[in-house]
Amino acid sequence: MQTVDHPVFSRVWSWAMRHEPAKVVRARGDLLAGLHGRVLEVGAGTGSNFAHYPESVEEVVAVEPDRALRDEAERAATAHEAVHPGTRIRVVDGTFEELPADAAGPFDAVVCALVLCSVADVPGSLAAARRALRPGGELRYYEHVATDGWLGGVQRAVDATFWPRAFGGCHTHRDTVAAIDAAGFERVEHRDVRAAPSWAPVPISPMALGIARRPD
Ligand SMILES: C[S@@+](CC[C@H](N)C(=O)[O-])C[C@H]1O[C@@H](n2cnc3c(N)ncnc32)[C@H](O)[C@@H]1O
Repeated sequence: MQTVDHPVFSRVWSWAMRHEPAKVVRARGDLLAGLHGRVLEVGAGTGSNFAHYPESVEEVVAVEPDRALRDEAERAATAHEAVHPGTRIRVVDGTFEELPADAAGPFDAVVCALVLCSVADVPGSLAAARRALRPGGELRYYEHVATDGWLGGVQRAVDATFWPRAFGGCHTHRDTVAAIDAAGFERVEHRDVRAAPSWAPVPISPMALGIARRPD
């Protein structure tokens, strides 16, 4: 079984999540708006999305392979349930590629936030998401994506050098939206968003936020 444990990155990420820009916090709200029923969130990190689940969501199964991040997510789940007892959040160990038995579907939605940039196998992960969804279920995504031009060059350069090792396996130049299409999802809504001004050489600035459906 694949292991994902990045003790240094998990500390950096935990700090970053306590200083998240308002723009990103708003995007998390947009990502989860209108969800209902049973939701599978993969690569849940510290549980930054939990506070944004609408009350119409009855259960969230949150898969997180990194031990330190999973501990934080468990604390976030307990804190959330204390205030919103109508949404049960279960945090479990596992990876996208090999979803654990406790993450058995069918789910009404699968949520991917900043995770498809880090998984070892993007098509395998999307195939797992598809299997976990009920027909007509939604893949909600908020992901770093590849761009072209000079910033695309920056992305390729950082991916080939220090970035994946420094940031828990993150790759900034993945064509994740094309991979979602290739996995057989039908895009329902899609927005290209920038986390930083267009002149800034920030490789993780180009992002995609959207909804894709598993066909019936
Ligand atoms: C950049 S963090 C994002 C965390 C969270 N989704 C968020 O939006 O704050 C990337 C997350 O993906 C997780 N991850 C990395 N490889 C994974 C894999 N193969 N399967 C599932 N999660 C993975 C990491 O442990 C980490 O929690």
